[in-house]
Amino acid sequence: CLQKVDTFLHRSIGTNVVAAQSEATRKDESDEKEKDGRKSLYVVQAERQEQAERSVLISCNSRTNEKKFLKHLSRHGDIKKHFFYESYGMYAVVEFANQESVASLLEEAAIPSVSHESMVPFKSRLLSLRNVGSVVSPNQQPGHQCQPQTTIPINELIQRLSREESIDQQITSLTEAYQLTEENSRLRFLVCSLLKDIAAAYFPECNIKPFGSSVNGFGKLGCDLDMFLDLDGISGRNVKMPKSGLCLEYQMKRANSERAVTQSILSVIGECVDQFGPGCAGVQKILNARCPLVRFAHQPSGFQCDLTTNNRVAMKSTELLYLYGELDPRVRFLVFTVRCWARAHGVTSSIPGAWITNFSLTVMVLFFLQRRSSPIIPTLDHLRDLAGPTDKSVIEGNDCTFVSDFSKIQLRSNTETLEQLLCGFFEFYAAFPFGMKSINIRKGKEQNKPEVAPLHIQNPFENSLNVSKNVNATQLDRFVALCQESTWLLQKSETNTPTPTPWGLASLLLPLQVAGIKSRKKRRREPASERIKSLLESLK
Ligand code: CTP
Ligand code: MG
Repeated sequence: CLQKVDTFLHRSIGTNVVAAQSEATRKDESDEKEKDGRKSLYVVQAERQEQAERSVLISCNSRTNEKKFLKHLSRHGDIKKHFFYESYGMYAVVEFANQESVASLLEEAAIPSVSHESMVPFKSRLLSLRNVGSVVSPNQQPGHQCQPQTTIPINELIQRLSREESIDQQITSLTEAYQLTEENSRLRFLVCSLLKDIAAAYFPECNIKPFGSSVNGFGKLGCDLDMFLDLDGISGRNVKMPKSGLCLEYQMKRANSERAVTQSILSVIGECVDQFGPGCAGVQKILNARCPLVRFAHQPSGFQCDLTTNNRVAMKSTELLYLYGELDPRVRFLVFTVRCWARAHGVTSSIPGAWITNFSLTVMVLFFLQRRSSPIIPTLDHLRDLAGPTDKSVIEGNDCTFVSDFSKIQLRSNTETLEQLLCGFFEFYAAFPFGMKSINIRKGKEQNKPEVAPLHIQNPFENSLNVSKNVNATQLDRFVALCQESTWLLQKSETNTPTPTPWGLASLLLPLQVAGIKSRKKRRREPASERIKSLLESLK
């Protein structure tokens, strides 16, 4: 079962069959996969970034004739892949075989002239198809299929799951429906690449990389796009001064702290995105947060974007989550299921607040998998011990070293089914001693809580930080009560056979009894000062 399901696991950011892709490319990619097996996140990122550099995003008409459209564009060179999608209008992503084709296409594109309005003459790879009288005819049927960029509604998912024959199949079906598609993943890298062109106005050698759920293997269609502005590649950074003799160095502006530099960089780039960035709207500069960021909507893709810089630890935790997800297919299945369950019951939310975040929830799943009697994944300390010299990484004094070579990691034999694990997850956290203990994936063992907080999850790389500092007691109680009820429901549904009425996992996604109740246990109210403190924390 695990081998069978493994095939679609690589869909999100790995290699797999894609629509409208030439046979030759398909073969190249599958050959590479066979040779290579699992690729490190670093390799996947580099490949995807290179594809994105050769791609353009074109707003077109829903009746655009696909053949004529491609013929028109291929005058600039071979097209390696293309697909259409809808996001407040029809768009096409077109990937050329060579970057010169993009340059040739841009050379031919015109600057629009509109009366009563003026244009900011900032050119980018976001284009519109215009005046194509012969290409678009009003009576023509759409000549192309659209690739979905959003998940199916929860009710539809519940119906789909009810038709499955086992809870294991329900879990794989949920993951299949929710995970990022090949196309969505390409679009995410393309948006980063378009943003890089804007940031390059200030820092020509910069790079913008996606991180978080867009690339860690746990992203759901529609999740936000976390972007990291990488300035470390700027040449001259690692040039060693000679011991004697002449040498030149750049004169540079100085600031009081690294944080101040981060804030000023994000401030100007945020301004540039706001004033000149085609398709970027609702720009907010949130520069006083612990991790300063610029938030905006990229309208053509429909992505909510968070741009940060100097956030290397988050890049490392993305890499770690990706590695855990690749080690055993059950990791991703369980994370997807728990995340979906949590969202259905309002345990997580898209609005920041005292809720458990998807990141915290993922770490909780990883911890649970480390705590099985035969652990499914190793501890972070073990991954650090396996690291080679090139894996060494210390960021701001934090040891972020862990092995990157999958083949060095020996897994313990564990044959538990997805159903057993899901049930086990709910049982584990229904009875977890949250009052005393902290969740720690570095050690793979619960630790005594170092500070007072309802939920304490140690940040894997910044040991003094609690990943779930924002969570209040009410939210934790709801989570525990929902775990208790879900354990009971899953045990009850063991005798069920597939029916049109929701059963098994599907029934867990329906409103549960405790979902509307703030807390099952009668809790003493927190003192006002605690509540204000937690409110201020969540606002921060
Ligand atoms: N991160 C972290 N420490 C935190 C919060 C986040 O290191 N306290 C890192 C994680 O690598 C996380 C990434 O920043 O994956 C992005 O954070 P966020 O967008 O909150 O989480 P995602 O994993 O992207 O999940 P979602 O789908 O909810 O966006
Ligand atoms: Mg995110």
